[in-house]
Amino acid sequence: MATSSRPAAGAAGAGADADAHLRIADPRWHIRVRGLTKQFGDNLVLDHLDLDVERGKVNVIIGASGAGKSVLIKHFMCLLRPDRGSVWVDGTDVFALDSRALAQFRRKFGLVFQFAALFDSLTVEENCAFPLREHTDKSRAEIREIVRDRLAALGLDGTQAKYPGELSGGMRKRVGLARALVLEPEILMFDEPTTGLDPLATRNVDEMILSTVQRYNVTSVVISHDMASVFRIADRIAMLHQHKILTSGTPDQIRAHADPYLSGFVRASGVGAAGGAEEPR
Ligand SMILES: Nc1ncnc2c1ncn2[C@@H]1O[C@H](COP(=O)(O)OP(=O)(O)OP(=O)(O)O)[C@@H](O)[C@H]1O
Ligand SMILES: [Mg+2]
Repeated sequence: MATSSRPAAGAAGAGADADAHLRIADPRWHIRVRGLTKQFGDNLVLDHLDLDVERGKVNVIIGASGAGKSVLIKHFMCLLRPDRGSVWVDGTDVFALDSRALAQFRRKFGLVFQFAALFDSLTVEENCAFPLREHTDKSRAEIREIVRDRLAALGLDGTQAKYPGELSGGMRKRVGLARALVLEPEILMFDEPTTGLDPLATRNVDEMILSTVQRYNVTSVVISHDMASVFRIADRIAMLHQHKILTSGTPDQIRAHADPYLSGFVRASGVGAAGGAEEPR
């Protein structure tokens, strides 16, 4: 199971020993979250949460609106710092990095947000070139070629001179993904990539996620509300509920799970127990 049990850490010294195995990169688990606790004022969002993210796979996080999914994944790259707990990426204790090391570390990640978050005043090409201009000293020609390659892989070659406003929602999401891929991330994170898309565009985004994982051999973390989509793409599913991971496992394990909240969540989506992943609405 991905929510591995953690030896009870008594004294501080014992806690350090219990973490020893986390300091070594694990061939299977790319990101390991231990005891993550985060509160905003009186609002307890995450409470001693444990989670393991599998390398090279599509790891989906589900849960009700406001459960803390976005807050959780922001900790993976230290966009938020916890009150307690740790995140380990390939044996690196993320919250122990100094600002210089952190800037370098964050380049492991590509982020794709719900609304693509493109700069409207820049063309597709300029949007995709932006991270390369910021973080590398590649020449204009090299940058143009990398951008062309990523756009072509997503069926977008030829859109370089267009502005985001001239594209459909699904195309904008693909441009957002192309931009996330230019720095060759090891880990791609998608926060609700299909929200607001029609069923056909949703399927396109699902296929894009699957083919990207294959082509670039990345680990992906996807937050999604759309259970039909979840069952199409997931290698692993983790449910966030009441500040913790309620359960995690393969899609079959999740479908067969007896927990009433989880099975209610899956049923409410209209996805049948046999996994007939027809559109839920
Ligand atoms: N920067 C912040 N400051 C204060 N509270 C925050 C902050 N970010 C998130 N929260 C609170 O944390 C809780 C979890 O928010 P989060 O955005 O992680 O939910 P979510 O599971 O991603 O929901 P949704 O599915 O609607 O996106 C919410 O109560 C939210 O108001
Ligand atoms: Mg969210």
